[in-house]
Amino acid sequence: MSEAAIRHEPAPEMTPVQDDHIRWLQEAVSRNRYLPQPQANNVFVGDGDFKAVGAEFLGHFIRMGGLRPEHRVLDIGCGIGRMAVPLTQYLDFEKGHYNGLDPVEGGIAWCRRFITPAYPNFNFQRLDIAHNLYNPQGKISGEALRLPYPDRQFDFVIMTSVVTHLPPDEVLVHLSEVARLLKPGGRLFMTAFVIDQLAAENASGRRDARLAFARDGNGPCWFVPDMPRLAAVGFDDGFLDRALEKAGLQVAVKSLGHWRGQDADHYQDIYVAEYRGAQR
Ligand SMILES: C[S@@+](CC[C@H](N)C(=O)[O-])C[C@H]1O[C@@H](n2cnc3c(N)ncnc32)[C@H](O)[C@@H]1O
Repeated sequence: MSEAAIRHEPAPEMTPVQDDHIRWLQEAVSRNRYLPQPQANNVFVGDGDFKAVGAEFLGHFIRMGGLRPEHRVLDIGCGIGRMAVPLTQYLDFEKGHYNGLDPVEGGIAWCRRFITPAYPNFNFQRLDIAHNLYNPQGKISGEALRLPYPDRQFDFVIMTSVVTHLPPDEVLVHLSEVARLLKPGGRLFMTAFVIDQLAAENASGRRDARLAFARDGNGPCWFVPDMPRLAAVGFDDGFLDRALEKAGLQVAVKSLGHWRGQDADHYQDIYVAEYRGAQR
């Protein structure tokens, strides 16, 4: 059985005061009635409480990912601002910067209307990337994607619930783009469904009943038989680790989530991977 959390690097030490501060911030985000929130019927990025999920991830970004207020952040597949809204309460108004990118017009329009006017350091851009479910008429193939930013722009890249909807070729393209865009020492925070033995066999009997993944041929993909293929994509354990390394991103944290039926403080699996600079 795989370990719940494999930490390849020592975690940045949190003092109890810092830890309390993060918890306070998360509670403040959850309780703040003035933060923008889309109407429930416009939320296309998954179930769960929009604000609570954002507050939860803010904690993971800081604790597991080492996100800091002065960072320049890129959120690939930002959807309708679920991660951006809590980040408005953390990123420094002058030094910190956020760019969100997504193929879904409605999500980007909402973010531009309700986030950017109050937080001008938060920018959102629509990119017409084709996706069978999210953007079927898209003009840009995900296999030939070049993200519209110059090299080495970002300290922190977010991909939450994105590779859970992508075929493997597109994952590889995205990771190579992330490696191009990160500054040396910059980090990718990515969630995924990693299919280890526990997840594949549901040995605990506690796996999320909606995610009875079956392997597609010889892998690396796993799909859920009764769903459209890209509604939920899992990968053979090891595939994403190798893909990250191949792109030049060193895995710092791999933390397995409770969707597979084991204890964890997060649902999907989480990778944090660092760009260490060009290897000689
Ligand atoms: C499940 S949603 C997650 C949204 C957001 N990351 C969050 O956690 O709230 C998946 C998002 O990925 C976007 N997406 C789909 N294909 C993409 C691609 N090739 N590149 C970037 N984003 C993509 C979708 O439009 C959608 O907003």
